[in-house]
Amino acid sequence: MTSSEQVDPRRPDTPRRPRRLWLPLAAFAVGLAALGLAALLTLLAPQRETGVAAIGGPFRLTDHSGEAVTNDSLKGCPFAVFFGFTHCPDVCPTTMWEMSELLAALGDAPGASELRVYFVTVDPERDTRELLRSYIQSFDERIVGLTGSPDEIAAVAKAFRAYYAKVPTADGRYTLNHTATVYLMGRDGHFVSALAYQEPRDAALAKLRRLIAVGRST
Ligand code: NI
Repeated sequence: MTSSEQVDPRRPDTPRRPRRLWLPLAAFAVGLAALGLAALLTLLAPQRETGVAAIGGPFRLTDHSGEAVTNDSLKGCPFAVFFGFTHCPDVCPTTMWEMSELLAALGDAPGASELRVYFVTVDPERDTRELLRSYIQSFDERIVGLTGSPDEIAAVAKAFRAYYAKVPTADGRYTLNHTATVYLMGRDGHFVSALAYQEPRDAALAKLRRLIAVGRST
């Protein structure tokens, strides 16, 4: 599916503009850096207690239906988190489309029903709950949009070591650069692994299967 098919033409805030190749490339580079950090943290896992900060942590956000979602409410559920924004022309819809296909491939594997998948907007000013809800409807029904105040978004992004920054566009509006990693978090709320942008399907599916298997009691 091309990026243009993902964009709602009725949305006045979505100017048609030439595809910007550097945007996905920049996001890819940021994603690679995040993966490098994740790999480093995994290697250093035994030393976490002595000062190496982990990915993840306390957060409080609101889902696209208005319900609160916190690290506490997710205890016992493996979850996947992606940081993006609904006006993103390319990286976000690609990632959500691929995640939808992965969820379909997981099917009703043991533990799959407990998996939560979240799209956290890094553009809370433009991404209202209504916009998030309509955006998410394009993808697997298990994917849930999360938003919060700018401070809450900044806090959760910091906890996950996710980067985002506004970039002004020629029309006086803005786009955002952001980390393109999908963070996979275990039932205990700790980081398990990550999916790189456009990670090969088999590898991604294996990581998701492992995620839902870890710590499963029944
Ligand atoms: Ni994006």
